[in-house]
Parts: sequence; structure tokens; C-alpha cells
Amino acid sequence: MASILLSLSLLAIALSLADSQSFVGVNYGQVADNLPPPDATANLLKSTTIGKIRLYGADPAIIKALANSGVGIVVGAANGDIPSLAADPNAAAQWVNANVVPYYPASNITMVTVGNEILTLADQSLVSQLVPAMRNLQNALNGASLGGKVRVSTVHSMAVLTQSDPPSSGSFNPALQDTLKQLLPLLKDNKAPFTVNPYPFFAYQSDPRPETLAFCLFQPNSGRVDSGNGKLYTNMFDAQVDAVHSALSAMGFQDVEIVVAETGWPSRGDSNEVGPSVENAKAYNGNLITHLRSLVGSPLMPGKSVETYIFALYDEDLKPGPGSERAFGLFKTDLSMSYDVGLAKSSQQTPSTSPTTPVTPAPNTAGWCVPKAGVSDDQLQSNIDYACSQGIDCGPIQPGGLCFEPNTVASHAAFSMNLYYQTFGRNQWNCDFSQTATLTSQNPSPYQKTIAFDLLGGICLVELDWKLNYMSIVVTMHAFTLVGAPDERKRLQIDVN
Ligand SMILES: *[C@@H]1O[C@H](CO)[C@@H](O)[C@H](O)[C@H]1NC(C)=O
Repeated sequence: MASILLSLSLLAIALSLADSQSFVGVNYGQVADNLPPPDATANLLKSTTIGKIRLYGADPAIIKALANSGVGIVVGAANGDIPSLAADPNAAAQWVNANVVPYYPASNITMVTVGNEILTLADQSLVSQLVPAMRNLQNALNGASLGGKVRVSTVHSMAVLTQSDPPSSGSFNPALQDTLKQLLPLLKDNKAPFTVNPYPFFAYQSDPRPETLAFCLFQPNSGRVDSGNGKLYTNMFDAQVDAVHSALSAMGFQDVEIVVAETGWPSRGDSNEVGPSVENAKAYNGNLITHLRSLVGSPLMPGKSVETYIFALYDEDLKPGPGSERAFGLFKTDLSMSYDVGLAKSSQQTPSTSPTTPVTPAPNTAGWCVPKAGVSDDQLQSNIDYACSQGIDCGPIQPGGLCFEPNTVASHAAFSMNLYYQTFGRNQWNCDFSQTATLTSQNPSPYQKTIAFDLLGGICLVELDWKLNYMSIVVTMHAFTLVGAPDERKRLQIDVN
């Protein structure tokens, strides 16, 4: 009986993990004259694990093509719509009636963004009309019974921050304070996110040293310690997102969720541009996706991933500016991949739900790298130190991290050694650690009522507390959650027929 219960709980965990991938989104820029037809784009998305798409406008053809796909859709009200939306509640109601109501819920519209990078444009009149426009749109959505279902936000460039380094010192441009004091409460009251466009690519262009490149591409690097709070950053994406978090905190709005509306890396550029290449673009986007899927989070927001829209779905041949602007696409407009970042559904390992292997978390076919029996704590500690110095993210085993408990050298070693093995290739030689490590396909947990769960690399020990309750099983997971705050406890209820 116990093994059936455990297998069901594992099934539930595996399903939740599959769900968690849907926070990888993509931007559908349309400044091109060679885009595939909407149906082809919808089919392309369905063949991938991309769960969300952001449109810059509200193109009905693509919104309709995505009907019944489940793909989350962000639609945009253009900068030019802001004056009328701000001036007239009826204009906002009309906008919602034209661009949301006819398609929802078959087309899964989740958010309307009002304007793009308005606060850093020179046009002061648009700045003052932004919040009134958003408020009218929110009221119009409420009026259409879509409040709480379709959120309203606006997209910012990182230039809204005048200070972002170190991340703990992040703060908004003082000139924007008045607008932010209206905007942030509106977002908070409606559980809408603060939406921003961080680009480590541009950070690298302004500081093109090799160590900066590794930091920007999530590759092994020595990291940067935030002098304000001592936290170690191993990548620029986390540093930029945490700078936004600090700026929000400084204004008392640390609870407002952050959404990354755009980030990306171009695969080509002009000969005088530093940074664009297929290799770098693949490294940035591929490692970003791995980072998001790990749910490791950032030093200031551990244990959850920021909802992120990669820029962009396709190359856009008509975009002005340097060559790189036309080469951000994950895909070419003939639907072939620009480079493979593992988004194809067929390249995913499907979690096995077979009840015959109840205590082996199935997604990982190559098994775990774990310490051999009888290895001393000193040796395990030096394995942790080594693995964590190689650029893998050991945040989860630091205090407050998802996998900090149980706080033992053995458990932290299991996490970091396995993460090293998963990150640097599942080869025997990456699970050696001076002959103190071994590969296993068995549950490595020594704890009763505990299973080891492979969180994309690291091993978290999850304590399952189950009881049979008539026809359902209640599983309480301690010390670990798939989403949400690290100390939150999650109950999974599974009905048995
Ligand atoms: C709509 O999209 C959101 C975001 O991806 C997702 O969480 C939700 O499950 C989707 N809804 C449906 C009905 O598929």
C-alpha cells in the first residue's frame, strides 16, 4: 500500500514539475515581412514547451490561432492608445470589448500591457496619462467580469533604475517617484506584476571583458559579491532582476511580483558589435531556461522563478538599428531553430508515472550522483566547496534555500555533487570527486518517509507525510515546495477512483 501511495505522490510531483515549465514565454515581434502564417506559429508553439506568448499589439489572427491551445497570451495596448484610454472610460471599455472579450477564454489572454517603456520616453504627457489609462482598462476588465483573470501592467526598460549595481542598492530614478507612487499601488491592489526588460547582452556590450561574458551567459565564473548584503551573484540576469526587487522594496512594494517581459541575446550582428553569435545566444537562452526551470530563484527571491518572456520568437528582418536587432529569434521565419535550446517537446524527458518504480523519481534517466557510503564529512565538505565554486547555483542549500533542510553535510553534498554532475554532463567522470562519489538509480535518501526528488540537477530531500483519507490521499511536503515561498508547505490531494 505504501508504495502505491508513494508512487501517486510522485506522479503528482512529476505533474507539478511539468506545469512549472510553463513560465517560459516568448515575445512575438512582428516587425518583419516574412513571418509564417498564424496557424504555423501556433503549431510551432504547440510543439515546444513554451507556455506563454507576448504580443506587442492585439493581432486577432494570432490570438485566434492560439484558441484552445492553453498558451497564455499577453496582449498590448499601443503607446498611441494611451491618451484616449486615459481620457475616456468608454474608450477603455471599447478596447477590452474589441481585443479581449471576443477571444477569452478560448484564447487564454492573461495580461494586457499598456504601452512599452513609457516612463523612459521623453514624452512627458504620455507619462502622466499612463496610470489613468491603466486604471480605466482595469475598470473595463472588471466591468467585463475579467478582473483577476486578465491582469493589467506596463512594460519598463531597465533605465527606470538609476542605480542597479550592486543589486541590493537598486533604486528608481527619483524623477519617476510621483508616477511610481500611483502605479505601484494599482499593481499591488490588482495583483498585477511590475514588468521589466533586463538585457545582460547590453550589460556585456558596455563592459566587454571575458569574465563579464561568463557572468552574463550563466557560465562558470567567480561570481560577484553584493557589497551591500554579502550575497553572491553568479549571473547577470539574477543581478538585474534583484536590482528591480531592491528598488521595489525601497518603495515598500517588495510584494509586487516581477515579470521579465523581454530578455534575449542575438545570434548575429554587425562586425563592430561585440557579443552577438550563435554560440553566445544559445548559451544565454539555454542556460536561462535551465535556470528558470530549476526554480532556484535569485539571491533575493530564492525558490521561485520569475515569469520570463524571451525576446524573441522569430528574427525580425525589418527592425531598424544595428544588425543584432534583426537576429534575436529563437527560430528562423522558415520555422527552423536558430539554435537548439531544448524547447522542443520531443526533446523533453517525459516523466514516467509507472507505479512499478515507486521510489525512483522518473524524469532523470541517468540517475543521481551521490556520495559513496562511509565518506567523511570533511571530504564531503570539500566536494561541496569544489562543486559550488564551479559556477553551479548552490543557493538552494544556503540558509533559506529550498534544499537547506535537512541541514547536514551529507544532504548538501548530495545536492551539490549531483547538480555538478547534471550541469557538466552526465558522464561518469563528472561523478568522481576523488573516488568519493557514485551513480545510482535508487532513492538516495537515508530518511524514513522521505524521498529524494531530483530538482533539475540538485537533490532535495522531501519529507512526505501521507495519510489515507477515505478515497483520497493527502500528501504534505515539508522543507520543499515546487513553487512559492521556501517555507510554505504544500498539500497535494489526489483522488483515487
Ligand atoms: C493560461 O495560461 C496561463 C499562463 O501560462 C496558465 O497558467 C493557465 O493554466 C492557462 N489556462 C488554461 C485554461 O490553459
